[in-house]
This record gives sequence, structure tokens and C-alpha cells, in this order.
Amino acid sequence: MRKKIIAGNWKMNLTPREARDFINSIKDKINSDKSDVVFCVPYLDLAVALNLIQGTNISVGAQNMYYTDKGAFTGEISASMLSEMSVRYVIIGHSERRQFFGETDISVNKKVRKALEYNITPIICVGESLDQRRQGITIELVRQQVKIALLDIPAEQAKNIVIAYEPIWAIGTGETATCDQAEEVCAAIRLVLAEIYGQEAADAVRIQYGGSVNAANAAEIFAMPNIDGGLVGGASIKAEFEKVVNYE
Ligand code: 13P
Repeated sequence: MRKKIIAGNWKMNLTPREARDFINSIKDKINSDKSDVVFCVPYLDLAVALNLIQGTNISVGAQNMYYTDKGAFTGEISASMLSEMSVRYVIIGHSERRQFFGETDISVNKKVRKALEYNITPIICVGESLDQRRQGITIELVRQQVKIALLDIPAEQAKNIVIAYEPIWAIGTGETATCDQAEEVCAAIRLVLAEIYGQEAADAVRIQYGGSVNAANAAEIFAMPNIDGGLVGGASIKAEFEKVVNYE
């Protein structure tokens, strides 16, 4: 039985002071061991978040990192820096990074490998645009994204990763994929994992859905057999996140 994992992707929201106020307002209400809960916060909020979640079951993640150990890469953050701060998760390849910052499947793979080297769990984002869905290439595209993201990653490591299926047309739009649409793609992701690693490893990987998850739809989405939680944007920086985490 896979434990659910519900992660908030704060994106570029909340200053350190706002982060402190928000975490203080919600941390006691979402401190459950029913699901793993992660706050993926902006780099500058990491220290505040790590400090405030002490003594809870909440973990802290980053939203990106670079794939080399160190060097002349102005503005970037390394896995060793995240690791030294005890950051346990990192989102890799979010569609906003692919769209606005030139991330590719290849850079995603390099980052995933580096995160795993430092024992940081990557939350790998995949998903199609509206045009791609209309063209009927969703499954093909997502299979390719997963395959390239996992190049040269052995089964023992793959078991620990998290994959987030986020259809781009459902992000920030209020339009959620139907449960059947989300389940279809998440099941296809598990199938490609089984093809690469075998069924046992595929069954261990947690696959999230992301895209307009909120308090009203979380329970229904998380009940689908291949959906093991959510990657939540807008609703993760509101009081509503409590209801998403404590879905029933
Ligand atoms: P929304 O929940 O705001 O649609 O964002 C989803 C997302 O991109 C999470 O990574």
C-alpha cells in the first residue's frame, strides 16, 4: 500500500515573513501521519520553513536545483546546498520551468540523477499541453518524458522517486482533469515504469496528480487507484490546504 504524498508547490509566492505566518497558521492542523506532506517553497523561504516544521511530520522541498556540484553558474542552487540544509524533496521539470526557463527532458534527467546522488527525493513533473491532448499524443508524450527523466537510474533508486502528472491545461486554470483522465495517464505512467523496472518497483513509485486540486475535488482524485496524492499550487498557500491534506 503506497502512502499518499501531498505536496504544496508555492511557486513564486510568500516572502519569508509571509511564509512564517502561513506555516504557523496551518502546521498544527496538517500534522498527520496519514499522508506525507511537503511544502515546496522558494529558496529564500527554506530556512524559515525548515525551522518551523521541526517536531511535525511535514517535510520541506525546493522547487528546482542545478545539476552540477558547484561552479560558475550564476543564480543557481546545488543539490549539496539543499542537502546540507536538510531539504528532503525537490520539484524537477515543472512545466513552468520547461516553458519559461528552457528546461528539457535531458536537463530533467541530469537534475534527477544529481538529486538522488544527494538523497533528495525528486518530484518529477510531466504532462501535456492542450494542443498535445487534442492531437491525441498525451500518453505517447508522457511516456517519453518519463523514460528520458529516468535514463540511467537504477530500480533501487527509482522506487524512491515521485512523479507528478500535471496536464498543463489544468494548471492555475480552475479546470481540473476528470478523475478518469487523470487516472488514465497515471496508470500509463505506472505501466512504463513496470516496463523499465518491473512491476514491484513500479508499484512502489508514488504518482501524484496536479492541476487545480482543491478542497472540493481532492478526495475524489486521490481515491483513484494509480493516484497517490497531489501536487497542489494555488490551494497550497491558503487555509484551504488543511482540507486538501485532511481530505475524506
Ligand atoms: P494549481 O494547483 O494552481 O493549478 O497548480 C498546479 C501546479 O502547477 C502544481 O505544481
